[in-house]
Amino acid sequence: MKIGILSSGGDCPGINAAIRGVGKVALSHYGMEVIGIQSGFLGLLENNYIPLTEASLSGLLSLGGTILGTSREKPFKKLLNGETDQKPQIILDHYNDLGLDCLVCIGGNGTQKTAHKLAQLGLHVIGIPKTIDNDVWGTDRTFGFYTAVDIATEAIDRLHSTANSLKRVMVIELMGHKAGWITLYAGMAGGADVILLPELGYDINKVTEAILNRAAKGKPYSIVAVGEGLKIDDKRIEKITGIETRKTILGYVQRGGSPSAYDRNLATRLSGHAIELIAEKHFGRMVSLQDGHITSIPLKEVAGKLKLVPSDHDLIIQGKRMGISFGI
Ligand code: F6P
Repeated sequence: MKIGILSSGGDCPGINAAIRGVGKVALSHYGMEVIGIQSGFLGLLENNYIPLTEASLSGLLSLGGTILGTSREKPFKKLLNGETDQKPQIILDHYNDLGLDCLVCIGGNGTQKTAHKLAQLGLHVIGIPKTIDNDVWGTDRTFGFYTAVDIATEAIDRLHSTANSLKRVMVIELMGHKAGWITLYAGMAGGADVILLPELGYDINKVTEAILNRAAKGKPYSIVAVGEGLKIDDKRIEKITGIETRKTILGYVQRGGSPSAYDRNLATRLSGHAIELIAEKHFGRMVSLQDGHITSIPLKEVAGKLKLVPSDHDLIIQGKRMGISFGI
């Protein structure tokens, strides 16, 4: 069999481990041919690809980003005049010209949606979920998430120095798009005093009340972790509390660099299962982690959905019991 692999959407730690896993298992265990498509779906439109060999797949495990490059190209996006683009047909033609038996798409929600549409078009497709946001429906974890949580936790640890020394409120904005997974996990692990999740929203008066309560107990400093899906005005916090307030946006640091051991192994397990599905000609599915086991789910069940933090998550419940404010 001949398979193509691409990464699409934002980069995240563990993509190279997944490319390596797919490539090595396909080449050495199943004797398949593997090509790497460059810059996501853009590479399929422009016929831009490289053969993947044992040699080119070496040294990737610890490498951040993606050796194939990525893009936010969405081939099914409607044109401004509302007409359907030629892009899906071009992709279908190139897939057939290349003689591919399957296309492996490593990506987040948008990528899995595109993968599903390509499957509807007749392509054999397998999705591998990745994103630091951990918001892909149908999998308990995405690789990249725990690495991002580690980086964000260390950032919160370091903000404690200034918060404590200068008795300030330090607001830190964390990534995650509409989901608060990174903010919840890093906020709790870093000992933030206020954790604001896009899923829950917040009331500024509750936030300032929590900060003032701490000050009344002899702790005139606080860390506020906020998910990027929410907007918060640090000047307003300063005005209401009378405590000097500073904001840090952690940004792309969160998704750069080497993946954690957990994320490397999750990427390896998911990619190995992707090749098993291909060998069994079981297409149109996304590999996933469910209750500790690697399995798969039809792409049509994943497409267009988001996995958000539930309001009864045990970290929220324990956090509330410990006196951490969730701003509501
Ligand atoms: O999906 C990963 C992510 O890093 C989100 O957390 C963030 O909202 C988004 O990508 C940023 O996207 P871009 O790289 O296009 O600025």
